[in-house]
Amino acid sequence: MTNDDPISRSIAIDGPTASGKSVVGRALAERLRLGFFDTGMMYRACTLAVLRAAVDPNTESAVTELVRALDLDVRWPDPTDPRIVIANVDVTADLRTLEIEEHVSLVSRIEDVRHELVRRQRAIATREPVVMVGRDIGTRVLPEARTKVFLDASTETRARRRYGDERERGLSTTFEEVLEATRRRDELDNTGHRALRREQAAEGALIIDTDDVDADGVVERCVEAYLASNAPR
Ligand code: DC
Repeated sequence: MTNDDPISRSIAIDGPTASGKSVVGRALAERLRLGFFDTGMMYRACTLAVLRAAVDPNTESAVTELVRALDLDVRWPDPTDPRIVIANVDVTADLRTLEIEEHVSLVSRIEDVRHELVRRQRAIATREPVVMVGRDIGTRVLPEARTKVFLDASTETRARRRYGDERERGLSTTFEEVLEATRRRDELDNTGHRALRREQAAEGALIIDTDDVDADGVVERCVEAYLASNAPR
């Protein structure tokens, strides 16, 4: 591959749950006129398919078989609003349920599932440069990306953000419940090649502490990093 292929020009964003990856990633894509893709949606879509097929998410071989055969597609009616399609049906609106939240870590920790989804995610960035967010984008999916970012924030800050989102969606959870759920999610996601803590960030990643910076400020820093790493030489 040349140094100017779509993967090199893509932006890889990693970080733990509720670190602001999607908000920042989408805004960044809009700003730079790139496509946006949140890889968590793929793990969620596989979990949806597993639950619908009544496959036990703990049975690795059955889950892997289902995922490999899954007719899963990603479409971009708008470059920053990817839609997940299973067997020609748009399931994007069904991916943020409590049931999926509770099971997605079981599916995403299976190495064969990750292998399959990494392959599909990488294929997306071979067509045109994208802003891709997840837990292993800089380390595994797009290691050649010139711009790699790791978003970090304390557990409390992340829980506060999630709590705000949930209140907006009309859910009546308490802050303590959300804080506990955030800790549990970190623990469950902490397997395999995933980057959840700054020490696990991809080599050369720009680490941004988002505790005291708003989303606009984080986007600004990412734009600077992108322009610096893609400046004509
Ligand atoms: O970011 P999210 O909450 O939508 O992620 C859903 C799940 O998928 C979560 O368990 C982490 C996992 N995930 C992953 O393992 N690797 C990725 N690149 C993206 C998400």
